[in-house]
Amino acid sequence: MSDTSSDTPVIKPKVGEYRRHILVCTGERCTGDGASQALFDSLGDKFKAAGLTSGPLRVKRTRASCFAACKGGPIVCVQPDGTWYYNVTPENMDRIIDQHLRGGRPVEDLVFHQAGCSDDDEGACNAPAACGPTSAAAATSPSCNSTGAGGAA
Ligand code: FES
Repeated sequence: MSDTSSDTPVIKPKVGEYRRHILVCTGERCTGDGASQALFDSLGDKFKAAGLTSGPLRVKRTRASCFAACKGGPIVCVQPDGTWYYNVTPENMDRIIDQHLRGGRPVEDLVFHQAGCSDDDEGACNAPAACGPTSAAAATSPSCNSTGAGGAA
């Protein structure tokens, strides 16, 4: 029987600091026309133009193959806020960048799920969705600091 451990040390990965992480499903059941991949491919330029590639609002972006939602794509998830968006067209992505990733307020009409809330709550959920300067979470959540830039990194 061989020893599966190795004398080679495991290298601890690094990803750098970031404020939020956006995950884009590029699976074929979300959009069959490549719109999700095109959306992901557009994020580098969009984030650069919006000042989200460095600094305190830096957003990390990652592709995912399936979130088990599989309808109404492109679908994206913004963490650590736990906000799930559908129908993320290029125009809707611009809204998410401006209002949520820069401003800290989810774009409510594009949200299909919010972590901590039932999908049936329809406005009754008080989960701290984001830590923007005008969000209720900024005033009440211990994960949000006084500048409105959340504490999680
Ligand atoms: S293929 Fe996108 S959520 Fe399943």
